[in-house]
Amino acid sequence: MKAKIMGAGSYTPQKKVSNAMLEEIMDTNDEWIKSRTGIENRHISEGEDTSILCGKAALDILGKTGISAKEIDFIIVATMTPDGSSPSTACLVQDFIGAKPVMAFDVNAACSGFIYALSIAEKLIQSGAYQYGLVLGGEVMSKIIDWQDRSTAVLFGDGAGGVLLGASETENSFLGEDIHSDGSRGDSLTAGKRAVSNFQLEQATENGFLKMEGRAIFDFAIRSVPESIRTVVEASNSTLEDIDCIVAHQANYRILKAIAKKLKIPVEKFATNIAEYGNTSAASIPILLDELLTNGDLVLGSKKKIVLTGFGGGLTWGSMLIQL
Ligand code: ACO
Repeated sequence: MKAKIMGAGSYTPQKKVSNAMLEEIMDTNDEWIKSRTGIENRHISEGEDTSILCGKAALDILGKTGISAKEIDFIIVATMTPDGSSPSTACLVQDFIGAKPVMAFDVNAACSGFIYALSIAEKLIQSGAYQYGLVLGGEVMSKIIDWQDRSTAVLFGDGAGGVLLGASETENSFLGEDIHSDGSRGDSLTAGKRAVSNFQLEQATENGFLKMEGRAIFDFAIRSVPESIRTVVEASNSTLEDIDCIVAHQANYRILKAIAKKLKIPVEKFATNIAEYGNTSAASIPILLDELLTNGDLVLGSKKKIVLTGFGGGLTWGSMLIQL
C-alpha cells in the first residue's frame, strides 16, 4: 500500500503572550527578541496539557477530513512534553477523541519529533495492516521553561498539529526521507533531566528545566539542515528548483535565512509563522502545514513537492520530501 496525506489540523491555546508582555516579567525587550529570532507572540497554555492540545488538534483533523474517530487504526504523538511518563499522551488522545482501543504511542525526538513520527506512520500504512493513522506533534513547552532564564523563556510556545494518513493503492505522498541523530552532542539541549534518586542515594537536585546552548544549536542547524534538504531532494531525483515550498521547524527566522543562503535559494521558499507562535518544538511543522492548507497556499491534490525539515534536541534532524 501507499501512504497518502489526507489532511491536516491544529490547535493552539487561546492565551497569546506578546514580547511586550514578557518585558513586564523579565529583563528583555521586543527589539532583541524580534531581531534575534523573528518571534513577536507565542501562545501559552492556561492549564490545558499536551494531550488536550493534541486531542483538540486531532478533532480538527477529523472534522476537516470527514473521517470519524472510530475509523482511526493508530495514533502517534511526537512530544518532549508529555502529560507524564505513563499513560502516554497518545493513549490519552485515543480516549479524548473516542477512538477504538487502537495502537497509540509517543515518540520523543524533540523538535524533529514530527518528522520521526511521520516516517514511522508512513511505514505502518505501507505495511497494508492499517487504513488510517493520526500523526500528531504537540507540546506544552511553557511547563519545562525556566521563566527566570530569559535566554530560553522568550523562544518557546505551546500548541499542537498533525495530519491524517490514509492507505491508497495509487496515491503516494512520500517521495523520500533523510533522518539522523547524534547523541554525542546531546548535552547542548537538555530537558526533563532527573538524576537517579533512591533509598541508597542522596536527594537529587536537578530541576529538569530546558537548557540550551543557543549558539551551538544555531551552528548545528545551519550545518546539518541544508545538507539534509539537499540529500533528500537529490536522492528523489529532484532539484531544489522542483520544490514549491519548504516547511521547516520554526525555531528562529535567522536560522531559516542562513539555511536559504547556504542552499542558494530565496528565503521566501521557506513558509513561516514563527512571529505568531514562537518555537513549538514537535508541533511547529504540522501547525504551519495546517495553516498553509487552510489559507490555500498549499492545496491537496496539487502534486506540489514540499520538503518538511526538522532539527533539535538529541541531537536529531531530518527531512522528508512529500507531494500533496
Ligand atoms: N533579551 C535580551 N537580551 C538577551 C536575551 C533576551 N531574552 N537573551 C539573551 N540575551 C543577551 C545575552 O545575555 C547576551 O548578552 P551579553 O552579550 O551581554 O552577554 C546577548 O543577548 C547575546 O546572547 P547570545 O546568546 O549570544 O545571542 P544569539 O545572537 O546567539 O541568539 C538565540 C540567541 C536566539 C538563542 C540563538 O542562538 C538561537 O536561535 N539558537 C538556536 C536555538 C534553536 O534553534 N533551538 C531549536 C531547537 S529547540 C528544541 O529542540 C526543543
